[in-house]
Amino acid sequence: MTETLKTETLANRRVLLVIGGGITAYKALDLIRRLRERGASVCPVLTAGAQEFVTPLAAAALAGERAHTDLFDRAEEADIGHIKLARQADAVVVAPATANLMARMAGGHAADLATTILLATTLPILIAPAMNVQMWAHPATRRNRATLEADGVRLVGPNAGKMAEAETGPGRMAEPTEIADALETMLAEAGAAAPGLGFLSGRPSTAARPLSGRRVVVTSGPTHEPIDPVRYLANRSSGRQGHAIAAAAAAAGAAVTLVSGPVSIPDPAGVTVVRVETAREMLSAVAAALPADIAVFAAAVADWRPETEAGSKKIKKDGSGPAPLTLVENPDILSTVSHLETGRPPLVVGFAAETDTVLDHARAKIARKGCDLIVANDVSVAGGVMGGTDNTVHLIHRDGTLETWPRLGKGEVARRLVTHLAGLLGR
Ligand code: C5P
Repeated sequence: MTETLKTETLANRRVLLVIGGGITAYKALDLIRRLRERGASVCPVLTAGAQEFVTPLAAAALAGERAHTDLFDRAEEADIGHIKLARQADAVVVAPATANLMARMAGGHAADLATTILLATTLPILIAPAMNVQMWAHPATRRNRATLEADGVRLVGPNAGKMAEAETGPGRMAEPTEIADALETMLAEAGAAAPGLGFLSGRPSTAARPLSGRRVVVTSGPTHEPIDPVRYLANRSSGRQGHAIAAAAAAAGAAVTLVSGPVSIPDPAGVTVVRVETAREMLSAVAAALPADIAVFAAAVADWRPETEAGSKKIKKDGSGPAPLTLVENPDILSTVSHLETGRPPLVVGFAAETDTVLDHARAKIARKGCDLIVANDVSVAGGVMGGTDNTVHLIHRDGTLETWPRLGKGEVARRLVTHLAGLLGR
């Protein structure tokens, strides 16, 4: 692609660039240049931390306009005000998004200009995380990332590679050109129909809401099958993928019911959440949520449950060896809904979590379950998918066509899947 084309792609776009306080803040200056080369205007906002690494003057010089730093700048409030600042653009880009900034965003803090803008804005937000390898891997950061993705925030990177502390691993901020590319994709999806006018409504255009007027049911998370009042059978599903799909479908304009097993991640915004424990409860909740245009079964439903109904008493050791546990098969929700004679959703999607011969199993499953599409992923331990934040998926359609996507964040998988489903439904 030539640079001329790149220039056209961001012409008339206005980007609010929040620069966080990390060593890679210097790369944000290069990002300003790249964005302007592509035709965008850039309004820089620096956190206090960012100003330890780069100066507002340098950002302003490269942007060709004033850089903002203070929430309580009287002159600035009289002139424009932070709420207006949060509206008068097409997108917000946060680069570098430090662990601290991600935590404050996920927590909804508004203690400085950058976080106040991020809380007040209704524009699409793209963040480019950058931090030490251990900080990126920390459960708190993983939780914050999941929260932000569920809130509709997009991520680009981080990349793996050599870090400032001579460590190697994921944590390096994406390169400025990658961030600019990701911004172009986000803007194209979030209302390319109205270039430069995003600030008028602050909402994505209908082009970005392809599921407007549609009903979507999503299952997510594990099920818990009680053995007695304190013990249960379960699995390692986090619910991240299913929750992200529910969030993406809602962002695409659908009325979404999310039927979720027990999970420790937050409810996605704008979605009706029905909480269940067992497979049988999940089936009833799904039946109650129909009719729907699309049903996506992303839950890791327990195939079996203990035969005896859990009583009110804990099973005791009596010295005669382990208590016998007889298992019976649970209802298959995906198969039940796929085979409904009346009220079957036009598009029924199953997931196939496999540890080996992923595609063969998925093809057999689509025939057995009677669904329209299977999203297959490899959950072998090496892949780190179960409970992790990334996913590599294959889409197998009923007519045998196959599509394989690169390794992506679960939020990005969800958005692509929702766009794909809207396309299938439209046909
Ligand atoms: O048969 P398997 O569990 O591998 O199939 C996975 C797919 O079937 C997933 O979409 C899962 O949500 C769905 N499923 C279901 N009810 C079950 C078992 C699986 O809906 N009892």
